[in-house]
Formats: sequence, structure tokens, C-alpha cells
Amino acid sequence: MLSYTQLSDIKTKLEKLCQEVSVFIKAEMQKVQQTDIEVKDMNSLVTYVDKNAEIKIVKSLKELVPEAGYITEEGTVVQDSKELMWVIDPLDGTTNFLYKIPHFSISIALMKDGDPILGIVHDVMLDTSYTAIKGHGTYENNLPVKVRKDNNTLDAVIVTGFPYKREPQHIDASLQMIRYCVENCRGIRRLGSAALDLAYVASGKIDLYYENTLNIWDIAAGALLVKEAGGIVSDYHGGNTYLQDGSIIASSPGVYDKMYPVINKLLG
Ligand code: IPD
Ligand code: CA
Ligand code: CA
Repeated sequence: MLSYTQLSDIKTKLEKLCQEVSVFIKAEMQKVQQTDIEVKDMNSLVTYVDKNAEIKIVKSLKELVPEAGYITEEGTVVQDSKELMWVIDPLDGTTNFLYKIPHFSISIALMKDGDPILGIVHDVMLDTSYTAIKGHGTYENNLPVKVRKDNNTLDAVIVTGFPYKREPQHIDASLQMIRYCVENCRGIRRLGSAALDLAYVASGKIDLYYENTLNIWDIAAGALLVKEAGGIVSDYHGGNTYLQDGSIIASSPGVYDKMYPVINKLLG
């Protein structure tokens, strides 16, 4: 069992690691070529930058917590099942990165028995770390943060994402949901990094984020950030299966109460 002091020490080392990997990612943004891009799946892109960033991260984590296993997006390490697991997305927002839109992140969670106990989402371009240790609140560059207090949907800024695989019935439902937000909320955004979307809910920049067909590495760290900042995280059916199910609603409590029934009806 890792103590709070040990987790706190690991958190400090993770911040340093993310800063170092960010230097690499930023430098490669200027060099990466069209010919470096592999299409993993429809609209899902990857390059050597994602893979090498992951290799760098795993190398350091192996020294930090040798007994832990790994779930990583790029699969550069054996994926196994242990009591402690690192869950890693080395570059969340690859499309933004490849189109030189300066909004992407590194997401690392440490899970114990399937439950995130430590999370970091690092904004690569701004060098901002959003961190949380279970039971000890959420921090943006070491300053405590909380979710927004508003509970009026008319004042709410909502963020979402669209599945890479676009099936007609899902597109119709997504558009209906967007229409609802346009008519009933202050604004709706598609920013392009699920991990940062969650960090934005946690740090009170936006009110609510929803998206589906996500993977555990997109959301394990960010979900902990939101919960530790006083927010609510659920799947589209109000349950706790978002890490497995891939559908997630993350919000301040007031806005969640009003928006959950709408998301559940249109998308659930
Ligand atoms: C993607 C981003 C995006 C979300 C996609 C994810 P990637 O991650 O988080 O915002 O809409 O579903 O797959 O592929 O850039 O690591
Ligand atoms: Ca991702
Ligand atoms: Ca990724």
C-alpha cells in the first residue's frame, strides 16, 4: 500500500517527467512529416512521436514503481494485469498535434485494483500540470482548484467530442444534443483532447464535458481530477462504469443534475 507521502513524491516526479516529455513533443511538432503518419483506425492517427513519448514515460515509471503493470495506448510495453497499474496516453490530442493546433496533453493515471489513486494531465504547450491524489484534492500547477459553482445551464459552457467512427444514427443523436446545448446553454466547444477536457472541468474552466467511445487511457487520470475537485463523473446511464464503457459525463454537481437527464435521453 502506497502512503500519501509516497504518492506525493511520485506526483512530483511525474510533473518533472511530463515537463521533459513535453520538451520532446514540442520539438518534434516542427519536424513531423505527413509521411510519418500511420492511420490506426478510421480518423485515428499516430506517429513515432506518440510511440517514443510513451517509451520515455514507461522507462521512467519502471524505476518509480517497479511492481506496477501497464495499460498504454501505443502498446510499447507488455500489457499486463497487476494490483497497481499505470494507464498512459502519451499524447492525447494527436490530430491537434499533427495539424499544429496547440492543444494536446499527456495523461498518466496510477490505478489500484481498478480505481485511479493518482492522476496527472499535463498540457504540453502551456506546461501546466493538473494533478490529483485520491482523497487529497486537485491542483493546477500546485494551486488547489474546484469545479464551477453555477447550476444554471444558461450560463454553462459545455465541451464534447465526436466518435472517430461516424455512424449515421450516432451522428443524428449527437446533432440533437448539440442543438439542445446551443438553445439552452452559453456555448459548446470541441477542443480535441479528452484528458484536457476533464482537466478543464476539474479546474472550473468549463461546466460539463460529455463524450463516448473513449478508451481508459483517455479518461482514467482526468476522471480522478474531476472527482477530487468536487465534480460528478458518470457514464451515460448515471453509473460508475465509464472506465470500461467509454461513455462519460463529467460536471459540476449543479449542471450535472440538469444536463444528465437530457444526455441520458438523447445519447444513453
Ligand atoms: C482522442 C482525443 C479526442 C477524443 C478521441 C480520443 P488521441 O485521443 O482525446 O479528444 O475525441 O476520442 O481518441 O487519439 O488523440 O489520443
Ligand atoms: Ca487519447
Ligand atoms: Ca493518444
